[in-house]
Amino acid sequence: MKIQSVKALLAGESLLQEIHVKGWIRTFRSNRFIALNDGSTINNIQCVVDFENTDEATLRRITTGAAVSIKGTLVESQGRGQSYEVQVKHIEILGDSDPEEYPIQPKKHSLEFLREKAHLRVRTSTFSAIMRVRSTLAFAIHNYFRQTGFNYVHTPVITGSDAEGAGEMFRVSTLDPKNPPLTENGQVDYSEDFFGKETNLTVSGQLEAETYAMGLGKVYTFGPTFRAENSNTSRHLAEFWMIEPEVAFLDLDGNMDLAEDFIKNVLSYVLEHCEDDLKFLEDRLKDEEKTKPAAERSEMSLTEKLRFVIDNNFKRVSYTEAIEILKQSKPNKKKKFQYIIEEWGADLQSEHERYLVEKHFNAPVILFDYPAKIKAFYMRLNEDGNTVRAMDILFPGIGEIVGGSQREERYDVLRQKVADMGIDEKELWWYLELRKFGTAVHSGFGLGFERLVLFVTGMTNIRDVIPFPRTPQNAEF
Ligand code: 4AD
Ligand code: MG
Repeated sequence: MKIQSVKALLAGESLLQEIHVKGWIRTFRSNRFIALNDGSTINNIQCVVDFENTDEATLRRITTGAAVSIKGTLVESQGRGQSYEVQVKHIEILGDSDPEEYPIQPKKHSLEFLREKAHLRVRTSTFSAIMRVRSTLAFAIHNYFRQTGFNYVHTPVITGSDAEGAGEMFRVSTLDPKNPPLTENGQVDYSEDFFGKETNLTVSGQLEAETYAMGLGKVYTFGPTFRAENSNTSRHLAEFWMIEPEVAFLDLDGNMDLAEDFIKNVLSYVLEHCEDDLKFLEDRLKDEEKTKPAAERSEMSLTEKLRFVIDNNFKRVSYTEAIEILKQSKPNKKKKFQYIIEEWGADLQSEHERYLVEKHFNAPVILFDYPAKIKAFYMRLNEDGNTVRAMDILFPGIGEIVGGSQREERYDVLRQKVADMGIDEKELWWYLELRKFGTAVHSGFGLGFERLVLFVTGMTNIRDVIPFPRTPQNAEF
């Protein structure tokens, strides 16, 4: 007999038929009612055990957390709270779970506690909902690019260039750390390392993606990236997933249009396809909000927030305008910001970004034309000689969710910028050559996948939206 998912059973697909289902027991009450979940949906199916015809030994093994195989009949439920239930004819315990030891009890656990049980937390409603939404979002992203003519390229995880300047990198080496070969002047001799040079885990697939955009036209990457920054915040991971589209013949305005359309499209997709999970997460968030002081509570529900982003234009504001707004702002004048904005050129901190989004504009904001000094070498220099065609998208509750730019396509200007930033030109020879052979205007951006999942699920800590978070001092599992 074919095994059916809980989701299919709850849809009533096999009413009055013999069915076979496998899953994990969430609860067992009155020696009779099993709430069974197999991960296919947030909802459990009730399985009613005929305890008179079930032997004592088996009954005792029906415990929270156990894996079971159930055969029975799908019927309309007499009880309240569910439309269908399974009348159990035969139950087999596939994997016992000692109820005294099983950490995931049928009660509310703190997110902190569950982080320590990351191997089991997906068996809670909250984490299964988050991870289904995450999976659907990933699909929606591929779907969007597929439908709009992009090619998916796989850029390397191990990289020999560390010029992106996006953050500290993790070294990849097979040298003996206790006894590495040394050069004449006492430095580690990486020419003897596996790749014959110093290599690291990538911080971004952008530079390689650019090479492919200059042949395939429209490409995107979607892979893991690694940053050894020691930032223990609720929005930083040492290993996170990034989506990076790169498009030939596209300027910064087109890049903003693409990013906005892309985000709205994937949000619409999850609203349509994750209704049950989002409903659950919305209720969870409502409960969470109740514990906050009234002034900090959000007026919008989770789905209202998603709708709001889909239905409204992102505000496009230049860095220069943003600085003026921030200088005039109350928290700046009253010195409430940790970093006071004194003058043009200041790097924006997340407190400033959140002020702009949450207090001033009350909408997602695209900031563009940043000072060249605070942005990467590859961004296209504007005619003013001071600013570059950069853009950051800022989201309520998140801050920066996207960073991107129009790329410097002029060979001489790029070489100059590489030199100005003290980067060795030899390291970037292939990147520079793109500007020698058939160069063209092109643009792209990077969306932090976990920050998007944070926004969609209403969670507040990035450690809760990736299965096994990697953060400073933490690589368990
Ligand atoms: O702004 P970033 O550093 O941009 C780049 O890496 C460019 N190469 C992208 C491009 O133009 N192709 O990072 C892009 C996004 C950020 O906006 C943020 O959402 C996310 O990646 N991000 C992180 N997410 C989680 N943990 C971290 N440590 C992150 N650092 C960046
Ligand atoms: Mg950035």
